Amino acid sequence: MALPPGASDGGRPRRTGVVAAMHPELAAVLERLPDEQRQRVAGRDFWVGHWHAHEVVAVLSGVGKVAAATTATLLIERFGVDALLFTGTAGGLGDGVRVGDLVLAGEFLQHDMDASPLFPRFEVPLYGRARFATDAALSARLGAAARQVLARASDTLGAHAVAEFALHAPAVHRGLVVSGDRFVATSAESAALRQALPEALAVEMEGAAVAQVCHDYGLPFAALRTVSDRADDSAHVDFMRFIDQVASRYSAAVLEAFFAEL
Ligand code: ADE
Repeated sequence: MALPPGASDGGRPRRTGVVAAMHPELAAVLERLPDEQRQRVAGRDFWVGHWHAHEVVAVLSGVGKVAAATTATLLIERFGVDALLFTGTAGGLGDGVRVGDLVLAGEFLQHDMDASPLFPRFEVPLYGRARFATDAALSARLGAAARQVLARASDTLGAHAVAEFALHAPAVHRGLVVSGDRFVATSAESAALRQALPEALAVEMEGAAVAQVCHDYGLPFAALRTVSDRADDSAHVDFMRFIDQVASRYSAAVLEAFFAEL
């Protein structure tokens, strides 16, 4: 039954949408839901179930801003979620943002939005802003769960993955994440992004769209990305294997810790 979008209970979401960008991440999440039921809407499978007694609707967003915005809107309108979490991977842009680190989004911006000279570069026309903030309280909870998981990263990933991907002392960063409909896979493009947006910690393909939808609905939103590459000439190398061996395991473990504490 669809619940209307509404207030959460004492700051705790009543029903949380969990959006994953890629299949292995969703699979790792679904393994943790004991009772999920599938509902198919608009070509997507929405999995309605419970995680540590919290109502959850898990779904694959697909790749890119349009797919992500459609998915977020359906979660809100058809499934009545009152908070939204996004998990996936990102390319590291900021100094010291290394493969295997986690990035908690404080704000999102579309790096390919450009209606200049009518509006300043990056500004979303008619919103009067380029940046969309995530929810501070929800992000703080997700960040605490992420730090808990990274403190025992080798338990989550296994020694083999830690060695294969040379993951040492992974960190959680918080700040600006930029989104665009492009996989950034050249050093020239990542250098241009760093120059235009020096504060950007990471680049991905969906978050800013979900942040804008959540802004429109007044819905709390938090997003955590595992850094899979440095958005440079070798960004595509081992990408799928990294998602399988590292990112999907981190996602499931962080969300497990998040819902256990909620
Ligand atoms: N997601 C993970 N790595 C990325 C990159 N280099 N560009 C865009 N999205 C990404």
